[in-house]
Amino acid sequence: MDEFSLINKYFDWDQGIGDDCALMSIDNGRQLATTVDTLIEGVHFPTETSAQDIAYKALAVNLSDLAAMGATPLYFTLALTLPSVDKKWLEGFSESLKALAKQYNISLVGGDTSKGSLSITINATGIVKKTQALLRSGAQVGDSVFVSNTLGDATLAWQQIQNQQTPSIALLKQFNRPEPRIKLAQRLLGVANSCIDISDGLKQDLSHILSRSKVGVSIDLEALPLSSEVAQYIANTQDWCVALAGGDDYELCFTVPNTHIDSVKSIAKDLDIKLTKIGVIVEKQGLEIKGLNKTCKSYQHF
Ligand SMILES: Nc1ncnc2c1ncn2[C@@H]1O[C@H](COP(=O)(O)OP(=O)(O)O)[C@@H](O)[C@H]1O
Ligand SMILES: [Mg+2]
Repeated sequence: MDEFSLINKYFDWDQGIGDDCALMSIDNGRQLATTVDTLIEGVHFPTETSAQDIAYKALAVNLSDLAAMGATPLYFTLALTLPSVDKKWLEGFSESLKALAKQYNISLVGGDTSKGSLSITINATGIVKKTQALLRSGAQVGDSVFVSNTLGDATLAWQQIQNQQTPSIALLKQFNRPEPRIKLAQRLLGVANSCIDISDGLKQDLSHILSRSKVGVSIDLEALPLSSEVAQYIANTQDWCVALAGGDDYELCFTVPNTHIDSVKSIAKDLDIKLTKIGVIVEKQGLEIKGLNKTCKSYQHF
């Protein structure tokens, strides 16, 4: 049984799970958006990863889920499981966590500390105006599908680490220090019809938008935005799966109706970020990738 069948079979008995954050109304005008993510040594980061990078990523991936909903970060809690007390490690971890928290104006309000194999769980909460949250269910036939920045860099870094190679600084940055797209998401409120963050690979995450919105997509392989290193890797290997199915990018994938396409251009310019149209939402359900002649397997925990 895969991860998503497991969730659907055993834990989907209550009000609508299935978005990047759960939404809870607090008054007539606003909703809280809350999310939780765990990082486990050896699964989500290699053992050699610095305390600073682990702390950054643990908070950044949660901020990324808030961004996917268009929520403004407010509070987070931290559940830390440590094999031992290493003061130098804890100092690095705490300094890095504090710096990122300050940058995104999110406060640490509680947590839990225990002994065991290294794992970090962060629960982050943000706020969004009622009916404004970016959901996975809003994509409409005719929408253009966009992604921010580039795809596949984090996965290429991870592959190189596993092959005992040293990734470039640029690739490592995308793997260890993905930038939460909070500012971009704020600008997408009222512009995008649907949104998700790419944590498990474009194909799998976009397919969540498709199933929740009951639509299909036609993607143009040649349109995928690639860094020069990933483009070079694909040119050498023809392995498009690194960009299509590679996880850990934490970029946003969102759909925009034609009436708002011009806004996307100005957002890209104002924020100095690359926003690339990679395809269109179509009526026929399923994910069509024009130009792909092999299947790519996305990341699954089980
Ligand atoms: N153990 C669980 N119990 C209840 N809901 C869960 C559980 N695990 C995942 N979910 C929900 O299932 C949906 C799919 O999760 P996923 O796509 O992995 O989210 P993300 O990648 O943004 O963390 C999300 O809405 C998430 O909140
Ligand atoms: Mg997500």
